[in-house]
Amino acid sequence: MIRIRFEGARGGAVQEVVVAPGARLLEVAQNAGQPLEGTCEGQMACSTCHVIVAPDDFARLPAASEEEEDMLDLAMGAVRTSRLACQIVLTDAMDGLTVRMPAAHRDMQGR
Ligand code: FES
Repeated sequence: MIRIRFEGARGGAVQEVVVAPGARLLEVAQNAGQPLEGTCEGQMACSTCHVIVAPDDFARLPAASEEEEDMLDLAMGAVRTSRLACQIVLTDAMDGLTVRMPAAHRDMQGR
């Protein structure tokens, strides 16, 4: 099992969940009640699933694709360790991963 730690935006509440390998980070966050819309359901067309990975954990994730990098360029408040949660499939190697919710989202579909 994999432990994931969510931190709220701007020092908000911390929540820890335990999930099985193979789950997508977006669904795990949504099931935990975290405020990620995931408007395009993983099609890399919205960036409403933007999360900020803890710097110490960033290298444990597979590198982002070019399409993901392009979408992150458009995400509000993106930083060097930003990722799209819909693109991260959790593995045992990610046990203990910490991700923070960004302060705001920009919905590329205008909703
Ligand atoms: S859900 Fe739209 S880019 Fe991830």
